[in-house]
Amino acid sequence: MTQVKSVVLARRPKGNPVAEDFQVEVSDLPTLRDGELLCHNHFVSLDAGFRNWMNEGSGDAVLPAMELGEPVCGLVLGEVIDSLNPLYAQGDMLMARFAWQTHSISDGSDFIARLPATLEFDPAAYMGVLGDTGMSAYFGMTDILKPSSNDCVLISGAGGAVGSIAGQLAKKSGARVVGLVGSEEKGQWICDVLGYDAAVVRGDADNMAEAIRKVCPEGVDAFFDNVGGEALEAAISNMNHRGRMALCGAVSSYGVPAYGPSNLFEIVTKEIRAEGFMTHFRHDRYEEAREALSEGLRSGALASPEYRLQGIHQIGQAYADLFAGRNFGKTIVEL
Ligand SMILES: NC(=O)c1ccc[n+]([C@@H]2O[C@H](COP(=O)([O-])OP(=O)(O)OC[C@H]3O[C@@H](n4cnc5c(N)ncnc54)[C@H](OP(=O)(O)O)[C@@H]3O)[C@@H](O)[C@H]2O)c1
Repeated sequence: MTQVKSVVLARRPKGNPVAEDFQVEVSDLPTLRDGELLCHNHFVSLDAGFRNWMNEGSGDAVLPAMELGEPVCGLVLGEVIDSLNPLYAQGDMLMARFAWQTHSISDGSDFIARLPATLEFDPAAYMGVLGDTGMSAYFGMTDILKPSSNDCVLISGAGGAVGSIAGQLAKKSGARVVGLVGSEEKGQWICDVLGYDAAVVRGDADNMAEAIRKVCPEGVDAFFDNVGGEALEAAISNMNHRGRMALCGAVSSYGVPAYGPSNLFEIVTKEIRAEGFMTHFRHDRYEEAREALSEGLRSGALASPEYRLQGIHQIGQAYADLFAGRNFGKTIVEL
């Protein structure tokens, strides 16, 4: 009988997750029922946003709160190996919101994006630059910020999965692009490898505002925010009149009491347009986004840096590494 290995939520993380919050469990694969499909997962994507639903009582319109002792909900890439669901056939490649496990059974009601029958790129790319990650960068940049060569663009979490793609897309527009990062080393890396014009190492809100001002003396026209809290406050105080802000995430506040920016009134006085977005509500535009990003990969204009670990036992550590900022680019585990 096939065995399923699953990473379960062993305890609710306190603040940033650590490897011990997760545990690998082995179980027998249940028999497939009518309407279900069985997916053999090859890659697990580690995404900061899912931390939000690891807290007790955190369920909302997007996802229910994760249960203790149950497989951790997350994005996977896999192949359908058996199906009693008329919409999916053996051999279909899926990027889906199932769980951190080697095999997943779904009745098809989960979030599922079908991949092309023939994959042009390394399969892992369909979790990163061509997955939710790259699409978040794409939707935030092309739909909301729309940078041009006259702009100074600031990106927080600039060397992470979403940030590393967002920075390259902004550079393509001719804008001056500045990244907020957690360390000097990552700052150097985003400039050398991703083409950022400059980096600012995060500090507390006051230091950060001053550090951004030094690097962006003429102010910020467009801000892509992955971090929230103090980074958002520091960015607001540097925004120009009628600046734009794309609010993609707030990793600084997942699992800890959120730091509330004290200068929100500047959004009014500077007539700033701030728009949040969720990529999974733009499911109907995945083909468009994937094609635009594929073009960048084909031409070599877009790098897709990865922090890749091997084996299901590494998933907890990989997730902890992401919150410790050890990832340069997309965090992924190959099963
Ligand atoms: N809206 C959407 O549809 C959507 C979709 C996907 C992702 N997102 C959001 O995009 C953001 C990035 O997610 P990701 O999965 O790509 O993760 P990621 O950027 O690859 O990793 C998170 C990065 O954030 C920084 N970080 C971690 N903890 C932090 C803290 N407490 N304060 C400040 N920075 C911290 C670290 O970089 P440093 O080294 O710079 O500290 C870390 O590498 C998240 O906010 C996520 O929720 C949104």
